[in-house]
Amino acid sequence: MKIGALEWMIEENIAYLTIQRPEVLNALNQNLLSNFEEWLDRVEKELDQSKHTYRCIVIKGAGEKAFVAGADIHEFKDKSRSQGQEMSQRGQKVFSRIEELPLPVVAYIDGYALGGGAELALACHFRVGTKNAVIGFPEVKLGLIPGYGGTVRLSRIIGYSKALEWMTMATYISAEEAYRRGALNVILEPSNNESSKDKEGSSELNSLEALKKWLQPLIKMAPLAIKNVILTIRSNTSIRANDLESLQRESVLFGELFETQDTNEGINAFIEKRSPKFQGK
Ligand code: COA
Repeated sequence: MKIGALEWMIEENIAYLTIQRPEVLNALNQNLLSNFEEWLDRVEKELDQSKHTYRCIVIKGAGEKAFVAGADIHEFKDKSRSQGQEMSQRGQKVFSRIEELPLPVVAYIDGYALGGGAELALACHFRVGTKNAVIGFPEVKLGLIPGYGGTVRLSRIIGYSKALEWMTMATYISAEEAYRRGALNVILEPSNNESSKDKEGSSELNSLEALKKWLQPLIKMAPLAIKNVILTIRSNTSIRANDLESLQRESVLFGELFETQDTNEGINAFIEKRSPKFQGK
């Protein structure tokens, strides 16, 4: 089933939500956020009425290069402080709704998970990567900061100092490093299926098979017990419950940068495919 640029499919107790804007590496634009809202309305209702047949949800990106390469930078152009803040609050809300779903949500990262894409992955309960996974927060290259809850969630997951390093240096983190720091739960080892090696897309198919295998224990456990584990752990760790102030601060600080020359320069430099020249103004 299609919900705008999202594709929703259920197979063998696992639901797959695929983000389909591969031509821009699945960059999250405002339309996609609307699609996510519509999808969440549907899923929350289904779960509320116990009308679902799946035991977990996998979020993945279409194409070979990316999970999601960030918020759509073209939509940042000429935004005011308040528009920037509203954009941030909207993204935060969508991602918090994902974090608060009462069944496991897994980000399947094969390629880039950058900026808003990394923040989406952090809002999922699990992050599973292939060896091609790359996680990064390049917002400072645009003169911006992460604005969809990432400043709060990354510190919780990998600790304050490393989070500060990744976000201020805009480092691209390999799958191995992300796994070592706890940002990935696992790096999938695709089975070496000789017979499928020549077929188109076989490497992705093998990784998805490995993902299914990794998920087997989870989908065999008692769903109500899994739900209650999520609900109890969430009451300690859900950022919506505990960090409303931090989220609000993030969106205010994200918004105010839209009034600076450097942010204007950073966004234009990306669009014009050149390096930015920042002046601290
Ligand atoms: N927003 C809008 N468009 C994006 C995008 C984003 N976040 N990320 C990639 N794209 C677009 C590119 O502009 C390009 O479009 P074009 O073909 O019209 O020029 C297309 O996706 C393919 O990307 P390209 O840059 O050609 O691929 P690459 O393999 O050379 O580089 C990246 C991949 C991820 C390193 C690079 O696309 C990039 O730096 N993207 C932005 C990442 C970012 O800053 N995200 C945080 C946003 S807050």
